[in-house]
Amino acid sequence: METPIYTFLQEYAEKNPLRMHMPGHKGRAPVPELEGAYTYDLTEISGADSLFEAEGIIAESERNASRLFGTVQTVYSCGGSTLCIQAMLHLMKQEGRRVVAARTVHRAFLNACVLLGLEVSWVYPSEEKGILSGAYTPEDFERVLETLEGQPACVYVTSPDYLGHMADIRGIAEVSHRYDAPLLVDNAHGAHLAFLEKSLHPMALGADLCCDSAHKMLPCLTGCAYLHTAREEYAGRLKDAMGVFGSTSPSYLMLLSLDLCNRFLAEEARERLRYAVDAAKRLRQVFSGKLIFGAEGGDPLHLSIDTAAMGCDGRQIAMQLEKLGCYAEYAGRESVVLLLSAMETEESMRRLEECLTACDFTPDGTETGEPPAFPRPEAVMGLREAALSESEIRPAAKALGQICAGVKVPCPPAVPVVISGERIDESVLSVMEYYGINTAQVVKESVPKRPLFCKK
Ligand SMILES: Cc1ncc(COP(=O)(O)O)c(C=O)c1O
Repeated sequence: METPIYTFLQEYAEKNPLRMHMPGHKGRAPVPELEGAYTYDLTEISGADSLFEAEGIIAESERNASRLFGTVQTVYSCGGSTLCIQAMLHLMKQEGRRVVAARTVHRAFLNACVLLGLEVSWVYPSEEKGILSGAYTPEDFERVLETLEGQPACVYVTSPDYLGHMADIRGIAEVSHRYDAPLLVDNAHGAHLAFLEKSLHPMALGADLCCDSAHKMLPCLTGCAYLHTAREEYAGRLKDAMGVFGSTSPSYLMLLSLDLCNRFLAEEARERLRYAVDAAKRLRQVFSGKLIFGAEGGDPLHLSIDTAAMGCDGRQIAMQLEKLGCYAEYAGRESVVLLLSAMETEESMRRLEECLTACDFTPDGTETGEPPAFPRPEAVMGLREAALSESEIRPAAKALGQICAGVKVPCPPAVPVVISGERIDESVLSVMEYYGINTAQVVKESVPKRPLFCKK
């Protein structure tokens, strides 16, 4: 597969050019080991194309990506899935659609709704696994779509979720389309799904718009992402939507890494993914009972350890793993998430098996097994109004009855317990306590403002 961005950057470097342009480092690295990276870090000089007005090497590389993913259009993001989510929702805002969203969302979605002034109708999971994961049926979405009585809408789903659980995209797409609602999927954790033996990628299952964080599951630099569409009417509008939010100085190192990733996807990914999927399957068998999800109906490369079910605290397990030199993607009270990718080797799999074998999963007596149910707090103020209002941080115990302002959740996993505009009730507080969240950002109760200047 051609790699037009890589070829251009190589040819430019070979000219030993007089770099009378940005970036100010002029291709010289502060430490020798970064020499190559700085040489290839460029800006929109003649021939280098321009991300949001792509017509040259970037457009050509994006067309390659589109062919690989089987989409009508795929464009690159150097602002992660966050930028793609903003762009998808911007398109929905332009069409005056209300968002019907599965509640297990990343904070990037909420921030985009605040920016765009979008209101959300929430779909709660019919089955849940703490706040990180939930199972949604197509009927769960249909019930909410019905209540909108023909108001233009779109449906927004996160799949895979943080624990690797995958939604029934085909079923949800069918329901969405019956209500003339485009289906938007946050597939931040699932770029590799298109290259499994049988594609499980949302674009193959009926999504209309979808984002993948290429950096999460593919060999790409941090921040690289794809925005895909299956609809002609959105092709041609993706760039403008991204340009509203994205920096006008996208990193050429990221674009280079997306370009080279095309070659990897065309030539190596399938075989390497087959190896990783088999290795994950084998580990699940060896540690049967400990590793959840990823087998039936889940992402095969998420090895999520259900520590709560074993009576252990996931954070303690992760600490043990760290002492053995193994760093998890996420560790919380009830689970540890280990992520595999197409870059696994026999060596990495052997080390992982050794670490898991050495880990002590004896119950530590602190866990009861089941995380609390997903709270369903009442919305008493608009999302945007609450998020942009004056706020204060209160200890959790003093937040009862207050309205949530900003959603401050650590990333990972960045899935909020309570959302801006919702009243913090007992059920929210008990979930916050369970997850060790000690403070809440709440809307400040109105205090009469003192005038800055007083007339004498
Ligand atoms: C489900 C989900 N969506 C979106 C994002 C944002 O992606 P990015 O970091 O690529 O901007 C994340 C990041 O962790 C995520 O987990």
